This record gives sequence, structure tokens and C-alpha cells, in this order.
Amino acid sequence: MQKTKKYAIISKSKKMNGVNNMRIRHKPWAKPELDACEFCVHVPSENKGKWNTVFSDNTKPLYLELGCGKGGFISQIAILHPEINFVAMDIKNEMLGLAKRNLEKAYAEAERTPDNVRIAIQNIENIETSWGEVDRVDRIYINFCNPWPKKKHKKRRLTHTRQLSSYKKFLCGELWFKTDDDELFEESFEYFEEAGYEILYKTWDLHSESPYENIVTEHERMFTEEGKKIKFLIAKPLDNKDSE
Ligand SMILES: C[S@@+](CC[C@H](N)C(=O)[O-])C[C@H]1O[C@@H](n2cnc3c(N)ncnc32)[C@H](O)[C@@H]1O
Repeated sequence: MQKTKKYAIISKSKKMNGVNNMRIRHKPWAKPELDACEFCVHVPSENKGKWNTVFSDNTKPLYLELGCGKGGFISQIAILHPEINFVAMDIKNEMLGLAKRNLEKAYAEAERTPDNVRIAIQNIENIETSWGEVDRVDRIYINFCNPWPKKKHKKRRLTHTRQLSSYKKFLCGELWFKTDDDELFEESFEYFEEAGYEILYKTWDLHSESPYENIVTEHERMFTEEGKKIKFLIAKPLDNKDSE
């Protein structure tokens, strides 16, 4: 009886942001593990203007993943590309705690130390508290952000015009965006235009036709198994920070 009631509550909250996704329960171990984690940045706002100093080799390009979830993406790409420094951020301790464990496992299997990756708790809606004009990010990844289908919630989308405008302050290269959601994908075209980005590439079926390297995320796997096509685009600010 108790179980049925709990499940009902979880189902209801799934519908609130429109994500048919994996809900995550409270994990009491997550915050203490993150507090003790050497590659977790505990107060991201303290690094505003000096993110390049958190890596031992700061001559490498810096890529940033927003809403990294359980770390399926970052734990693959950071191993595949030791020549790049990565920062992955999420709003939830439970998600970032799992990302931390997945990263530790991936680096242990590769017999490497996690010297090219950092993780941090950050509400991306307030990203300007931790990333500023002095910072330089060579690529942003947004993978399967919450679609927020209700009109009154759309401003929370990580691809909303307001968000895209704030990323421009520190983005020197491209933004790579993947989603399963047609409405979010198509409405994002307008957000990119309004925020002063140019869309360099787009596809409604990433797995059939993209020439780009694709690292499958946990939501991507789930949506693909459900038969959904994965949408993908690459965009770049028109007034590129590098050309200023
Ligand atoms: C649908 S999941 C996708 C996770 C992962 N990127 C993937 O592709 O499997 C969305 C993730 O974004 C995070 N998120 C949602 N809103 C956020 C915000 N405002 N700031 C930071 N992370 C956010 C959630 O906690 C969740 O981990």
C-alpha cells in the first residue's frame, strides 16, 4: 500500500517538467562523498574568472557540460579526450554523486587519475555567479535538458534565450545540444537566433546521419530504446568572444 502511494507521487512529479525520465531518490551518501571528492569544486563561484587555474595543465581547451546527470557522458568523453579539460555541472547532489562514482570507475579502469575533469553543483539558471567574461570555454554540451513544456516554465529551459545570452559571456566556441523532444528542439531555433547564435548544423536523426563524434548519454540510451529519434544541433555565437 505504502509503495503504491510513493510511486504515485513520483509519477506526478515526472509530469511537471515533462521528462519521462528516471526519477532519483534522496541519497544520503551523495553530499558527504562530494565534500570529500578531490575533483569536485565545492564553491564554484570562487572560481569565477579563474577556471583555467583548477587544472594542472591549463593550456588545454576547456569543455563544459551543463546538466550532466549521472555522468554517463562525462565519464566517457573525459577518458577519450585527455587533451581536453572538462567541467560538468548539475543542480542535484544525488546526480552529481552518481557522476562522481561513474568518473572514479572510468578513471580506475583506464588506470588514470582524474586530472582533466572537475564536477560542481550549480544551478545553471544562475550560471553567471560562477562563470564570467574572463573565463574561456571552448565548447558547451547540453544533453537532454528538461523540456519544460508548460508556457510558464519555458524560461527554465537550459536553451532559453536568457540562458544562451549568459553562456555567450564565456563561450568562445560551439554549443552542442541534443534532445529527444521535438518541441524543445524546434523552439530552441528561435532562442538561438534571438540570443545571437548561428546554427551550423542540425539533424532530427542524429544516429542515422551525423558525421560528428557522438557519446551516448544515459537518457539518450533510454529514449533510443523507446524508439525516439535523437535531435542534435551545433550553434556558435555570431559575435564570437575570440574575435572581440
Ligand atoms: C533529463 S536529465 C539529463 C541528464 C544527462 N545529461 C543525460 O543526457 O542523460 C537533466 C539533468 O539536468 C539537471 N538540471 C535540470 N535543471 C538544472 C539546472 N537549472 N541547473 C543544473 N542542472 C539542472 C537535472 O538535475 C538532471 O540531471
